[in-house]
Amino acid sequence: MKITPGLPCLVTGASSGIGMEIARQLARRGARVALVARGREPLEALAAELAQLGGEGLVVTADVGEEEQVAAAVQQTVDAFGGLRLVVANAGLGLYAPVEEQPADHAETTIRVNYLGLTRTVRHALPHLLAAAPSHIVGMTSSAGLIPHKGGSAYCASKAASNQYLAALRLEVFDRGVGVSWICPGVVQTPFLDKADLDPSHDLPKLARWLVRTLNADEVASKALRAVERNQSLVTLPPMMRLLAWTRRLTPRFGDWLQRVTG
Ligand SMILES: NC(=O)c1ccc[n+]([C@@H]2O[C@H](COP(=O)([O-])OP(=O)(O)OC[C@H]3O[C@@H](n4cnc5c(N)ncnc54)[C@H](OP(=O)(O)O)[C@@H]3O)[C@@H](O)[C@H]2O)c1
Repeated sequence: MKITPGLPCLVTGASSGIGMEIARQLARRGARVALVARGREPLEALAAELAQLGGEGLVVTADVGEEEQVAAAVQQTVDAFGGLRLVVANAGLGLYAPVEEQPADHAETTIRVNYLGLTRTVRHALPHLLAAAPSHIVGMTSSAGLIPHKGGSAYCASKAASNQYLAALRLEVFDRGVGVSWICPGVVQTPFLDKADLDPSHDLPKLARWLVRTLNADEVASKALRAVERNQSLVTLPPMMRLLAWTRRLTPRFGDWLQRVTG
């Protein structure tokens, strides 16, 4: 699907990092973007910036973990823009701890925001996307959904579940004019890394740190928008992460060994 001036879009997690860059790049192409996150202030600042860039930002506060708030956010967007053609389900958090040290709500919070937040966003948006096809859904998942790492059991599970959910959805809506892409970046330099408060001993795999360069939010954003225009399904980046993901998939025993001895 082409990203054209006036395109009605919704981006969750737009107040920071990758979501904010996606909103900026959409605005540079003249799109209208509903900016969804919990905190209002950064969304208001971003909306003002988008107007300068040639687009339009609509501030929509919502917690993607709450069903009614997601439904209301989608409705508010459709009411304001008269429809919806692009949804980027990007909101997420990173909680890291080995299983033995996880508090009782660790897995539940991770799944509620990262997986259920994505599925709620998609489910409420889908009737509008089908009505307005051609349209597109992007899920900002993670290479953690392809390659597990120590300390990230809940996070990896939330992203693997999101990948599979979107892969199944792509099959369901492919012939109905709705494209579906899931973007699996490696490490991206955003506030996510500070918020995740990674313990170096339970960090992202050392192997990945050695081999795979850290990405910037703007390059992840531009790859996500390219996936929309080319209707790509899975996008893994950078290329070295793609190679590691393939290695793990083709030879799981070797991939497991490699991570144990190097990570
Ligand atoms: N950074 C990385 O290394 C990396 C790598 C691979 C994948 N990812 C994925 O990329 C996505 C974006 O990450 P990022 O690096 O841009 O992180 P970030 O800078 O921390 O931004 C996260 C965004 O999500 C929003 N958010 C968090 N919880 C929310 C909730 N319950 N409801 C609504 N919005 C919520 C935050 O705003 P509020 O707090 O105001 O709600 C913020 O706008 C995430 O899904 C993450 O898992 C990140």
